Amino acid sequence: MNKLKILIAAAEVVPFAKSGGLADVVGALPKALRKLGHDVRVVMPRYYIVDRDKYDLKPMEGSLGVPMGVIGEEWAGVYEGVLPGSDVPIYFIEHERYFGRKGLYDENGIAFSDNDNRFIFLSRAAMQLAKKLHFKPDIIHANDWHTAAMPIFLNTVYAQDPDFERTASVLSIHNLQHQGKFYKGAMDVLGIGWEHFTEDELEEYDGINLLKGGIVHSNAINAVSQKYADEIRTSEFGWGLEGLISHHGTKLFGILNGVDYEEWNPSLDTLIPFNYDMHKMAGKKICKLELQKTFNLPHRQDVPVIGLVGRLADQKGISLLAEAIGGLLEMDIQIVLLGTGEKWAERFFSHIASTYPDKFGTYIGYKNDLAHQIEAGSDFFLMPSLFEPCGLNQIYSLRYGTLPIVRATGGLDDTIENYQPYTGKGDGFKFYEASAEALYGTVKWAVDTYYNDKKGMKQLVKNAMKKQFSWEVASKSYEEMYRYSITQRFGVSMERN
Ligand code: ADP
Ligand code: GLC
Repeated sequence: MNKLKILIAAAEVVPFAKSGGLADVVGALPKALRKLGHDVRVVMPRYYIVDRDKYDLKPMEGSLGVPMGVIGEEWAGVYEGVLPGSDVPIYFIEHERYFGRKGLYDENGIAFSDNDNRFIFLSRAAMQLAKKLHFKPDIIHANDWHTAAMPIFLNTVYAQDPDFERTASVLSIHNLQHQGKFYKGAMDVLGIGWEHFTEDELEEYDGINLLKGGIVHSNAINAVSQKYADEIRTSEFGWGLEGLISHHGTKLFGILNGVDYEEWNPSLDTLIPFNYDMHKMAGKKICKLELQKTFNLPHRQDVPVIGLVGRLADQKGISLLAEAIGGLLEMDIQIVLLGTGEKWAERFFSHIASTYPDKFGTYIGYKNDLAHQIEAGSDFFLMPSLFEPCGLNQIYSLRYGTLPIVRATGGLDDTIENYQPYTGKGDGFKFYEASAEALYGTVKWAVDTYYNDKKGMKQLVKNAMKKQFSWEVASKSYEEMYRYSITQRFGVSMERN
């Protein structure tokens, strides 16, 4: 089978910079594609937090010229490294004014006012870098609104460029809520001509919508689960783009994310107190005890511990949790929460922790090792999301034998099978309605199962730990989508060696 040259760009990539699952995906998918024999290159910004020494990043010779419309040509430095554990090259676009900041997108929750320029710059720099490297990609793969300008550039400023004459484009939508909407003046920075400022392309309510333009101009789009691909065609989940997405439905894919089981695996994990696996579960008890110690909770093996890790954003159902928390804490349970995000939520959950010190532990902040320890030390993992394109934590939880309690939306519905007490089937607990009552009722069901149905619990844990969501499988679906996009663009298959 012919091998492809693939250029993937994203705003965040594990382990260099991460705020959520996008980074996990872009840190893992390229490695899996490489294993299939493809020539994959990754591009991201060199934020202030990207540690050049730790990852042995080397400066590339010369600077990269990046045309920025009316701003004129800007110059970027480029650092080169590899994705750890692979030979996949990753390039970091260095530009002090755009990326030499602490935050990726914001400071203290306030979005940077020049995010349009920053990510137009990243998208254009990725294209320019391909030229500088003489890479001539078969596929450019953009991720979310941050790099959605790449397929737009391909069809406009690079339409006649021989370096891209065999290139097709793919856009992954990890989260449709964020679309990159800006003042229309950004058209002049894109430099593609105002004829593209129409409601069929980039215009929306007299402003510019980068994701919309990306959807229109890509040859294939991927929503990160089949259910989410279906949901975003509806007004409930489409954030105003449902009509456009339905219109482009034939090029819409729903490939579920995989998991990097080298990083998220209780038998290998170096960040948890004790390793364990399906056949030797004793280590999980030690992890539970250590977790209780970390959060100053009573050291009890007999009480169910429910973990939560994630961005404290509306998407994650934190308002449902806030509403239900009083009732939940009447049960004999412990809850541990790790997260950062909306200020009201940070304050609210910190207050709950100080009111119920024996039942509720919280860490407000971002802490990777603690995320692993919560996966390992909890009995249940709660994700009451209002919408969830894929969701990775529930998939990690399965592998750690920590039963997910989820709202049946997007990838949560696709990955978790509800417990059926009579057959012993299932690997978690699901609720459907987005309400505090439904959340409460389902946690209660899980807690009752913990206390009164030990056999059922054992079976559930076994089922969960057996489940596989590897990138090996998902990357093959990406391969198919890439080939589809080539056919869609050129009418015939244009792959080459
Ligand atoms: P999303 O991308 O919407 O945030 P996902 O479930 O896909 O949701 O991925 C979230 C990822 O970010 C997981 O790897 C999770 O462990 C990590 N994460 C989120 N918040 C934190 C935090 N406060 N500390 C450490 N890791 C976090
Ligand atoms: C987004 C989504 C999340 C998904 C992740 C990776 O941030 O919110 O559900 O798992 O991207 O695709």
